[in-house]
Amino acid sequence: MRVKIYGSGSIGNHLANASRQMGWSVDLCDVDSAALDRTRNNIYPARYGAWDDEISLHLNDEAPTGGHDLIAVGTPPDHHISVAMTAIAEKPKAILVEKPFCTPDLKGAQELTEAARENGVALFTGYDHVVGEAAQAMAGLLQNRAVGDIQSLDVEFREYWGGIFAAHPWLDGPKDTYLGYWQRGGGALGEHSHALNLWQHFAQQAGAGRVTQVQAMIDYVDDGTVSYDRLCQLNLRTETGLTGRVVQDVVTNPTRKWARVQGTGGYAEWQCGYAPGQDAVTLGPQDKDAELTTYDKTRPTDFILELRHIETALKTDPDASSISGAMGLDTMLVVAAAHKSAQSGKMVSIDYTKGYTQSALYA
Ligand SMILES: NC(=O)c1ccc[n+]([C@@H]2O[C@H](COP(=O)([O-])OP(=O)(O)OC[C@H]3O[C@@H](n4cnc5c(N)ncnc54)[C@H](O)[C@@H]3O)[C@@H](O)[C@H]2O)c1
Repeated sequence: MRVKIYGSGSIGNHLANASRQMGWSVDLCDVDSAALDRTRNNIYPARYGAWDDEISLHLNDEAPTGGHDLIAVGTPPDHHISVAMTAIAEKPKAILVEKPFCTPDLKGAQELTEAARENGVALFTGYDHVVGEAAQAMAGLLQNRAVGDIQSLDVEFREYWGGIFAAHPWLDGPKDTYLGYWQRGGGALGEHSHALNLWQHFAQQAGAGRVTQVQAMIDYVDDGTVSYDRLCQLNLRTETGLTGRVVQDVVTNPTRKWARVQGTGGYAEWQCGYAPGQDAVTLGPQDKDAELTTYDKTRPTDFILELRHIETALKTDPDASSISGAMGLDTMLVVAAAHKSAQSGKMVSIDYTKGYTQSALYA
């Protein structure tokens, strides 16, 4: 495979490394020559031991176009749609758009979906937790009804974002990046939307369908410079009537990334980072001892699994992938509904027949 990656920041380096581990060729592009220098001299060698001369670095304007199998969009979220639109013209087999897929106003989301379909380009989204080993085990329990009929589903990604800034020492804080601005895709709801996406994935694996109603309480920080949400609490209902809760924040320390399903026959729990280098799934059947299974993982392997999944999906049915573009955009519809709910104080419903647009949301 030939891969082109837009954005040579944190995720661009992860995807470049994972692509090289897959034996793929990589063109890594950025609009900023300082970001390309940082990749070669700092980020990549610090993370993976040494720079890899097989990776070609380019300014966007000087990058090769055409002939790539996969184009990944790892720019800040407010550039995802425009960069992905340009990428469609390059006619790759697939485009991987990082999370959150777009900004909460959903601008351009439906147009991109249609353009991809018309040009035969498969869309994927960067919610890599879903294709991790532990989440796949949890999904298997739900598909097999190992805990009976699902009565509740909770997912939390609660993580103080100091770690993100420690990994980006060239940034002073949220004001220097999209992270400090919810309308640009930052804040807790955008940054930790892995939790919401996992909730939607687990609900679908349990046969509960898509989210149709959203009620949100959001704690916004607005000091005249930054404008982001530090904590959001979402109550969700699906088309079959399953209700549950998602909590995402950028304040909790130590981190908690956790999901729990209660069913008529017991419970199942997923924990990301159960121990250093391990995720875990616990199955607690009614009247039996709980059984904990751990899954070894490293950050680089998260992205290798993701790319392996995409390679396989391209040979089978990309639309059926648990990280299809549609799954990423379903998450954005709920993100948009949540902001609308928090700001109006009303429950917001989603009408999927209206596409990925604001008109799909009504109070
Ligand atoms: N899936 C994951 O677990 C994961 C992890 C980290 C980041 N992300 C996502 O990846 C995206 C980027 O995050 P990051 O932490 O890598 O940001 P970052 O700030 O480290 O890097 C972004 C890079 O994109 C470049 N850029 C901006 N506009 C561009 C354009 N039009 N073309 C090419 N390059 C452009 C910037 O110069 C910068 O170097 C975000 O949406 C973030 O949420 C996902």
